[in-house]
Amino acid sequence: MLAADVIEALRAAGATDVVPTDRDELDILDADAVALAVAECDLLINCAAFTAVDAAEEQESLAHAVNATGPGILARAAAVAGARMVHFSTDYVFAGDATEPYAEDAPTTPTGAYGRTKAAGEEAVRASGADALILRTAYLYGRGGPCFPKTIAKAGRERGALSVVDDQIGQPTWTRDVAAFMVRLLQADAPAGTYHATSAGQGSWYDFAREIVASADLGDIVTPTDSSAYERPAPRPAWSVLGHGATEALGIEGIGDWRERWAVAADEVLA
Ligand SMILES: NC(=O)c1ccc[n+]([C@@H]2O[C@H](COP(=O)([O-])OP(=O)(O)OC[C@H]3O[C@@H](n4cnc5c(N)ncnc54)[C@H](OP(=O)(O)O)[C@@H]3O)[C@@H](O)[C@H]2O)c1
Repeated sequence: MLAADVIEALRAAGATDVVPTDRDELDILDADAVALAVAECDLLINCAAFTAVDAAEEQESLAHAVNATGPGILARAAAVAGARMVHFSTDYVFAGDATEPYAEDAPTTPTGAYGRTKAAGEEAVRASGADALILRTAYLYGRGGPCFPKTIAKAGRERGALSVVDDQIGQPTWTRDVAAFMVRLLQADAPAGTYHATSAGQGSWYDFAREIVASADLGDIVTPTDSSAYERPAPRPAWSVLGHGATEALGIEGIGDWRERWAVAADEVLA
C-alpha cells in the first residue's frame, strides 16, 4: 500500500531510475540477492513488512524474519554499498499508554508480537551502520491497499449502521503524505535517525469513521463503542499519538492535520 505512493513520489521528485521490486523479484530474506540488487543503489527504501497484526501473534517467528531479520539484511547491504536507506516502522513499537505524544527517542515498549518484531527491525537497522532514516507511521490508509476507510465505506453501504471504537486514539495518515514527507527529509539531507511520519492532531477510529461516512455521503450512521466489544488476538495501543519534535527541530514541513488531509485524500482513496 505505502510503496505505491513512495514510488510515485520519488518519480515526481525527479528520481530517474526507480526500481520497484516485490517479493517475487527480491525476497528481502535472501541476503545474496539483496546484496546484488543493492550494490549499485544510491537509495534503498524498505516498504516490505509482515503487517497482519493479529496473525503475528501466532506466527511471530515469520513476522520476526520479515520485520527484523530482513531489514537487517537490507541495511547491511545498504551500508556496504554506501547507499542511504529509508525504513518504515510503526506506532506499535509503543504500548500506547502515554498521556503525551511519544517522542522519537522514547524507549520502545511493544505489547504484541507485531510491535516486538518491528522494534527489533528498528534495532537491526540502527546496528547495521547504514545511513538510515527510520520513519514510524500509523493508522495508514491509501489507494494502494485494503485500509480502514475502504472497509468503513463498504460496510456502511452494505449495513447502513456501524459501531466503531472510540477508545483507541491515533493519527490517521495518508500514504501519499508519508511519501511526500519522506521526500522532504531526503531533499533536506536529514541526518540518520528516527522520525515520525504521521498527521498532526489526534482522533479515535470512531472520529475517523464519522469523517469517512460523511465523505461517502452515507449520513449519520456511526455510533461509538469501546474495545471490549471486539476481542482480538493482538492488543491495540489505546493512545498512539506520535510527536514530531525531530522534524520541527530541522525546520522540515510536517504532515498537516489528519481531518484536513482526509478531506484532500477522500475521493482518491474511496474511488
Ligand atoms: N498499514 C498500516 O496501517 C501501517 C501502520 C503503521 C506502519 N506501517 C508500516 O508501513 C510499512 C508499509 O506498510 P503497508 O501497509 O504498505 O504494507 P503492505 O501493504 O502489507 O505491504 C507489505 C509488502 O511487503 C511484502 N513482503 C512481505 N514479505 C516480504 C519478503 N520476504 N520480501 C519482499 N517483500 C515482502 C508483501 O508482499 P506479499 O503481498 O507477497 O506478502 C507486501 O507487498 C510497513 O513497514 C508497515 O509496518 C503500516
